[in-house]
Amino acid sequence: MPERPPVTDWATDFDHLSEEWAADGPEIMADLRERCPVASTERFYGAYLVTRHDDIVTTARNTETFSNRVTAVNTNHPDKIKLDLSPITLDPPEHGPVRRPLLPSFSPKATDELEPAVVAMAERLLDDIGDAELADGALDYAQLLPVEVMGHLFGVSAGMGPTFRRWVDGMLKEGQIDLAIARRAAREVQEFFANQLDEREDLGDDAPDDLVSTVLRAEAELPDGGTRPFTRKERIGALFVLMLGGIDTTWSTLGSMLFHLGSHPDDLKRLVAEPELMPTAIEEFLRYYSPVTIARYITDDAEIAGCPVSKGERVLLAYPSANRDPDYFENPDELILDRENNRHMAFGVGVHRCLGSNLARMELRVGLTAWLERYPRFELAVDPSEVQWSVGPIRGPRSVPLRILS
Ligand code: HEM
Repeated sequence: MPERPPVTDWATDFDHLSEEWAADGPEIMADLRERCPVASTERFYGAYLVTRHDDIVTTARNTETFSNRVTAVNTNHPDKIKLDLSPITLDPPEHGPVRRPLLPSFSPKATDELEPAVVAMAERLLDDIGDAELADGALDYAQLLPVEVMGHLFGVSAGMGPTFRRWVDGMLKEGQIDLAIARRAAREVQEFFANQLDEREDLGDDAPDDLVSTVLRAEAELPDGGTRPFTRKERIGALFVLMLGGIDTTWSTLGSMLFHLGSHPDDLKRLVAEPELMPTAIEEFLRYYSPVTIARYITDDAEIAGCPVSKGERVLLAYPSANRDPDYFENPDELILDRENNRHMAFGVGVHRCLGSNLARMELRVGLTAWLERYPRFELAVDPSEVQWSVGPIRGPRSVPLRILS
């Protein structure tokens, strides 16, 4: 792998795939918001990083100039990235017809129906931790729950969990730096879902009622009001993006929650004593530890906040930075469990806003509630500065060693 030269100035030479960014991302973004809200870099064939709330909204809403055809900034040339992750890699007008048929599977009603199964999964994972004095909040819990949930939704064997984790890591972590890993993972995921689709097709009316069958039967709307079946590429792309979108995001946020509560005893005590704070607390964790920074492909020379940006390059929308913008949030760098006005952007903004947000919120609530009921007292077993954060577009703690207190 090529050497990664250290960053000289984050405003003109940023490297969002560096260990430094993984460790200090929030502080670096705070500095950029102040002194250079549209940072740039010559790395990655030229890219920009937008950090202010309003500029992110304006950019995300301009889907013509800032296309979703490429959603990552990595060492691959932007014009060489051809990964189909419909609907996230589609722009209007093609985007809506492929997104809408997926929405009912993630509606509040569908999420409510799924909740008892998620509670049972969380309880089982906690049973495995049992009476241990030390547990890893990320590796033993946060990183397992969303994988189980998605496996259950796809209707695939529970034994696929470790493979899903390897694919997600391959695509969103190591693979962002070592492209061969990402390519291998992508090929395996595509083959896996192609086989799953074939199996459901062979079963015909006997196919189980799972997400793979839903995608197989999905019909995209046509401009004349009629419909057409999803193409094979769209089917595989949709299952692929649901797996990518549904796993790492949620595990990162749940891991961040346990990291925070393990290192902020007053917040832990308060949340255990006042469980009615859970809804505002979940939103505040999402705001404060928002995991996703995602890219757009620039289709034409343009300006963002008066800064010229060039056609053919990419721009990163730092949703986590929008969520700490002092123009929008009072005391943005404080985590306030009962924060009232909290219109955060952890789930994005515009037409691509997260379609799994109901499911994500339920998983986070169930996952955290079950943990706190079982382990109301725990603390981080290492200094917070020793916790490593993942490199890549989704930020979360890689490991959260916790001491369980009696
Ligand atoms: C804490 C958890 C989650 C966070 C923070 C999150 C965040 C996001 C963000 C920021 C976007 C917008 C991307 C953009 O601007 O291009 C997005 C899109 C998306 N998310 Fe999530 N997500 C989470 C959980 C989930 C779950 C559980 C699923 C489904 C199983 C999911 C599926 C998707 C899909 C399919 C899209 C693309 C939507 C489209 O292009 O229309 N996400 N998510």
